[in-house]
Amino acid sequence: MDNFTAGELLEREANLKNSKLVIRGGKRLEGEIYVHGAKNSALPILAGVVLCQGESVLHNCPRLSDADAACRILNCLGCKCSRAGDSVVINSADLINYDVPSDLMREMRSSIVFLGAIIGRMGRCKLSFPGGCELGPRPIDLHLSSLRKMGVDINEEHGFLDCSAEKGLKGAVISLAFPSVGATENIILAAVRAKGHTEIHNAAREPEIVDLASFLNKCGAKIKGAGDGTIYIEGVEKLEGAEHSVIPDRIVTATYMCCAAITRGEVVLKKTDYRQMSAIVPVFEQMGCSVYTYSDDTIYINARKSLKAPGTLRTMVYPGFPTDAQPMMMALASTLTGTTVFVETIFDNRFRHTDELCRLGAKISVEGTVAVVEGVQKLSAAQVHSTDLRGGAALVTAALFAKGVTNISNLYHIDRGYANIEADLRGLGADIMRV
Ligand code: UD1
Repeated sequence: MDNFTAGELLEREANLKNSKLVIRGGKRLEGEIYVHGAKNSALPILAGVVLCQGESVLHNCPRLSDADAACRILNCLGCKCSRAGDSVVINSADLINYDVPSDLMREMRSSIVFLGAIIGRMGRCKLSFPGGCELGPRPIDLHLSSLRKMGVDINEEHGFLDCSAEKGLKGAVISLAFPSVGATENIILAAVRAKGHTEIHNAAREPEIVDLASFLNKCGAKIKGAGDGTIYIEGVEKLEGAEHSVIPDRIVTATYMCCAAITRGEVVLKKTDYRQMSAIVPVFEQMGCSVYTYSDDTIYINARKSLKAPGTLRTMVYPGFPTDAQPMMMALASTLTGTTVFVETIFDNRFRHTDELCRLGAKISVEGTVAVVEGVQKLSAAQVHSTDLRGGAALVTAALFAKGVTNISNLYHIDRGYANIEADLRGLGADIMRV
């Protein structure tokens, strides 16, 4: 088992900052590919481990820089983490800290999800304000107002949040103005060991919420309704550790489907979940791809036909079309006959990848939260850089189609969400290398 030593992780990060992906486009992707576990499930579950007194084993936990950052936070709190392949073992019997260092908070914006878990276990939590990110302002007002309702006293000073629940956390009825994924997770985490009953109305319904609830219930929590608009939680005194397997990553699935389609390829995705793809599969079908499933964990996509633009795509909360799939779908739409209109309703600033796609020859015009993509017959290689995680994946998708050799820099964005994108794509026949 490899332990997470700070030196190794820092060295790995330095390498990531300097490396590039070199892709020669034009190869049709063919074959089988395995989809790794969901980043957005693994992170809140790793936070949830804080609530348990004992050992937890998390399988299918993807080897991503964000998951490493979450393990470093756990180490700082006093947990002992070790990884063997895709399994992480965490002993959270004895916690010694309730504060998260600001460099770790900055590294991973979603570390805010540790707030609910730490306050739930320790009655106190100190962390720095996560601030904005590549996708625009990322407020946490819904997280904070909900926790205040549960009896948390929160001081916001000099960019830090100092939170305490001296009399313990108490259950509350909370209605979210927007079904925020992170806020729903933070409330669940705070509520499982709170005194009494909590209800979350207008809760996020993403599969990752269901996975978090399923892990916590294995640990002894009493959560009902995850995946529906209202979640009910009865607080319990204590949680034990549990063994759990993270669900497949639906955004990685969507990415590899886009890669298959842009190369007009034929690919079988394994260890995925067809049931989570209900807003995405019809878009591929509308383009002219054939998409089948043999069993819930396998998706077959065939794009060996002439494809056409799918019309208008509006990002929505689950089960709508996911904002995280928008950039890769935009890369694909750039190469299809006709016009695609993207309406981004979740984030204010989620079109930063469009400039880089245009450098590759895409024809995209952006007006506020609407992007209009005119399909072109050819993209041409260029030097481009990832603007954010999914923006980087969009560049990889486009580069697979572009004529010539594309260099993509700022890979640390991509490595936050894809465990081994170049090996995966090379296995399907792509000409791709990390240098
Ligand atoms: C999660 C996902 C991210 C995905 C997003 C939307 C993780 C680690 N990240 O992010 O990949 O793109 O869901 O599906 O799971 N908002 C507020 N106030 C708040 C909280 C959110 O105004 O207190 C706004 C945000 O600014 C944003 C929208 O709500 O415009 C969606 O945010 P949210 O659902 O909270 O996304 P995250 O949990 O941050």
